[in-house]
Amino acid sequence: MSAQSYCVQPENGIETQQIEDLLDEAFGIERRVLTSYRLREGVAPLKELSYAAWIGTTLVGSLRFWPVRIEETWDALLLGPLAVATRIRGQGCGIALMETALSKARDLGHERVILVGDEPYYARVGFARVPDGKLIMPGYVDPDRLLCRELAAGSMDEVKGLVGRVG
Ligand SMILES: CC(C)(COP(=O)(O)OP(=O)(O)OC[C@H]1O[C@@H](n2cnc3c(N)ncnc32)[C@H](O)[C@@H]1OP(=O)(O)O)[C@@H](O)C(=O)NCCC(=O)NCCS
Repeated sequence: MSAQSYCVQPENGIETQQIEDLLDEAFGIERRVLTSYRLREGVAPLKELSYAAWIGTTLVGSLRFWPVRIEETWDALLLGPLAVATRIRGQGCGIALMETALSKARDLGHERVILVGDEPYYARVGFARVPDGKLIMPGYVDPDRLLCRELAAGSMDEVKGLVGRVG
């Protein structure tokens, strides 16, 4: 194992400030006005699906999920934010965080995941563009960046409508 190898672990609950710093580095502080944040405001991330990547005692990656409900009917996970420290990008950390968490989400019985992000990247872990008009976000989102992945086959078939906050 090289000195730069990272390890992916469940969040331990004490790294909150380090995660905020990493997200500011990755997205800038303006991240807080994005539509996805409207769905997160006042709602806690799902602890059981929050993962961190470490090199020694330095946090180098973070992935969290929030619960959302579509048309007040269908539960879904909102993936993100996902961020990896600049110095270890391109070493598979982002994909490793997502594969670990998505596998856990499936084991826990979650059926569908949505996110706002770059399709060419997230397609690597099975995400695809949501068909136009199927989902409505509570604010502007570039339709090319609204993506979903079924964790249970056919679980997006009937789903349609407004994505809302849970809680
Ligand atoms: C996006 C991000 C999480 C990727 O993390 P990472 O650990 O470097 O990603 P991985 O090592 O798992 O994957 C790297 C591969 O994905 C590709 N990739 C990375 N970001 C991409 C993007 N936005 N679009 C398309 N491909 C992308 C890389 O070119 C690389 O390709 P290669 O394997 O063919 O060389 C990281 O760059 C980051 O934190 N960026 C800033 C925050 C951000 O934009 N997050 C959400 C993305 S919408």
